[in-house]
Amino acid sequence: MRKNILIAIDGPSGAGKSTLAKAIAEKLDIMHLDTGALFRALGYAALVKGFDTRNSEQAAELVNLVKLDIEFEGKDQKVLINGEDVTPYIRTEDVSIAASNISVHPIIRDYILSQERQLAERESFILDGRDIGTVVLPNADVKIFLTASPQVRAERRLQDLIRAGDQNAKYEQVLQDIETRDSQDSNRQTAPTRMADDAVLIDSSNLTIEETVAKVLALVDQS
Ligand code: DC
Repeated sequence: MRKNILIAIDGPSGAGKSTLAKAIAEKLDIMHLDTGALFRALGYAALVKGFDTRNSEQAAELVNLVKLDIEFEGKDQKVLINGEDVTPYIRTEDVSIAASNISVHPIIRDYILSQERQLAERESFILDGRDIGTVVLPNADVKIFLTASPQVRAERRLQDLIRAGDQNAKYEQVLQDIETRDSQDSNRQTAPTRMADDAVLIDSSNLTIEETVAKVLALVDQS
């Protein structure tokens, strides 16, 4: 029998990492961890408490006040803050920005890093995020850096928001938010969005999800 397999998918906001990771997890019958959801849960918790997500002292206080748990129902991931399932509340634009802001603080990253590694030790996993191939799982069996043009990513994100019931979402605003997050996530000091030296770059701007999945499965076969 094959040993556990670990797959890392990194890339900027809206590149389709989670959709891809979910599809691969289904095909290979392994677990998927959306690590963005962890930062989103803490960003959401900070907003609820009225904290300034850019303030590192308040970030430290948040880590003391809240307990983040990750649970799976089958393959469905839930994030809990102090025992409450906050999964339904973490996909808004406000939480996207709060997550990006709060992810800058090393104390937040360390807290999440230990949880990510504990999970990945247990069984085969595909993790998607920004620093999986570089920091979280430097020894992953397969590393993908998934990207797409900001315009394509904004259009996909807009459709997600509309599907989720946000009829006021505007393309220009979504594009601007994506560019702000790209810049913040790539330029922070700790674990910025970066392609690992041994990762494979996939630009999904002109690929369907099926084509992207096929490329990753081929890489898994070769690993
Ligand atoms: O993938 P996402 O859009 O759900 O992530 C939300 C924010 O969380 C993102 O803007 C930056 C942060 N993040 C991170 O810093 N590292 C990760 N591995 C995943 C997300």
